[in-house]
Amino acid sequence: MLVCTLGLLSAHHPLAILVPLAPKSANAIQIGYQPLAHSFHYKFIVILPLVHRLSFFSIIMSVCEKYFPDEPTEPKLVTAFPGPKSKDAVASLDKVFDARPVYFVADYEKSSGNYIVDVDGNAYLDVYAQIASIPLGYNNPALVEVAKSDKMTRAIIDRPALGNFPGKDTEEIISELLKVAPKGQDKIWSGLSGADANELAFKAAFMWYQAKKRGYASTFSEAENESVMKNQAPGSPELAILSFERAFHGRLFASASTTCSKPIHKLDLPSFKWPKAQFPSYAYPLEANEESNKKEDERCLAIVEDLLKNWNVPIAAILIEPIQSEGGDNHASNAFFQGLRDLTLKYGSLLIIDEVQTGVGATGKFWAHEHFNITPAPDMVTFSKKFQSAGYYFHDPEIIPNVAYRQFNTWCGDPARMILAGAIGQEVVKHNLAERASQVGDYLYGKLETLFGKYSELITDLRGKNRATFIAWSFKKPELRNKFLNDMKSVGINIGGCAEDSVRLRPTLVFEEKHADILVAGIEKILSGY
Ligand SMILES: Cc1ncc(COP(=O)(O)O)c(C=O)c1O
Repeated sequence: MLVCTLGLLSAHHPLAILVPLAPKSANAIQIGYQPLAHSFHYKFIVILPLVHRLSFFSIIMSVCEKYFPDEPTEPKLVTAFPGPKSKDAVASLDKVFDARPVYFVADYEKSSGNYIVDVDGNAYLDVYAQIASIPLGYNNPALVEVAKSDKMTRAIIDRPALGNFPGKDTEEIISELLKVAPKGQDKIWSGLSGADANELAFKAAFMWYQAKKRGYASTFSEAENESVMKNQAPGSPELAILSFERAFHGRLFASASTTCSKPIHKLDLPSFKWPKAQFPSYAYPLEANEESNKKEDERCLAIVEDLLKNWNVPIAAILIEPIQSEGGDNHASNAFFQGLRDLTLKYGSLLIIDEVQTGVGATGKFWAHEHFNITPAPDMVTFSKKFQSAGYYFHDPEIIPNVAYRQFNTWCGDPARMILAGAIGQEVVKHNLAERASQVGDYLYGKLETLFGKYSELITDLRGKNRATFIAWSFKKPELRNKFLNDMKSVGINIGGCAEDSVRLRPTLVFEEKHADILVAGIEKILSGY
């Protein structure tokens, strides 16, 4: 009761601090996993310059509790998985839409915070969160408010062709995305999906590369204008994007040519014959294998350098994920990323960082590559998923093609999604959610480390230390991985995999210690039966 009252008071007085006067007892109770002495007298002092990292009222009520007072306290299962209503809905949907990949049919009206509810009424703790794309929990009230704004209505029903007819609010909408831009980036080009963002970045890279040869201000030659209409050089030059084995960058044509995680993503598609370097494969735990992992970095960088020097066509850009996600949650060191940056400068290519899955707080920084302190900053950073809006950040004005309409399409992005991205960015910053994800991630990682110590015959390569909740592990027997993902539904947890043998955690940014406890207990329950 005391706590609720204080929570309400402090919510209305964000600069107020509660100061304990005289402790009556030294006992402490746990609230939201922050110890709070409960038998102090309190008085208010206004203005709190000390409120810095974790705001005081989050001690009283967590961000998740404030957003979602009615979030379920635990998973609720009322049917076996999948439930009968879900099965019927899938069968019906399948008549008009390929429903083979459907896990279950959800009831998004009833889903709340970290819990996704299916049409049968089962509530699952969701640590997959729409393939890593829900930033702030289901039915987040701050986003609902933005969704109901007049500005949003206009952006949806009078959707502008942004390139030709931007609205009077376009610059302001973009400025919200720039407030959370990766360090060193101050411009944006917007797109529609992760694959689209990457392909737009490839186009920009190729045009930049040719402009560098031709001179940015030069016009196209007659030969270029004529040959390009036949898809031939010099107008359509042979150029490449270098990506990595096990990478995932999307499933459109050019992005699929850079993707290299599973055959199923690419089979039957004509492709660009672009080079793949090797991404480091580290031995775990990292602390115990520093020397050999350093050698692995050097080996992989040597491969990249060899390709940059000797590939049969020039490489306009290197494209890389900060953590290869779909391909197995493969990590690489700061030194490896800096090494790549140095190579792009040496050989005159661009560095494109694909933050589609890693971006927006989940690794403990707003953008994952900010962990690496790459100098100078990368040339382009692509985004989508948790940001809802897609596109790329950049800073060099010469990455804007020399003539209008070269990087262009009908919508050039989607202001409705950009408004949402701006609001997501604001909420993440306002509530320190990236830092909060770090705290929760450290807590969770510690618990998993202890748990997997008990199951070392089953589990290997726990990854994601110091990368907040961006955590993964592998099964020694790959066939057990799919069984595990499925079995976790029986303890009310929706969880995803990556590569053939791994499990990846991709919860929202409002996933807290109490959710981590439920997750760890669920994992233990399933593993103990194997
Ligand atoms: C790193 C990365 N890049 C690109 C994509 C493609 O995004 P989309 O599925 O929105 O095209 C994904 C999707 O999982 C991704 O993880």
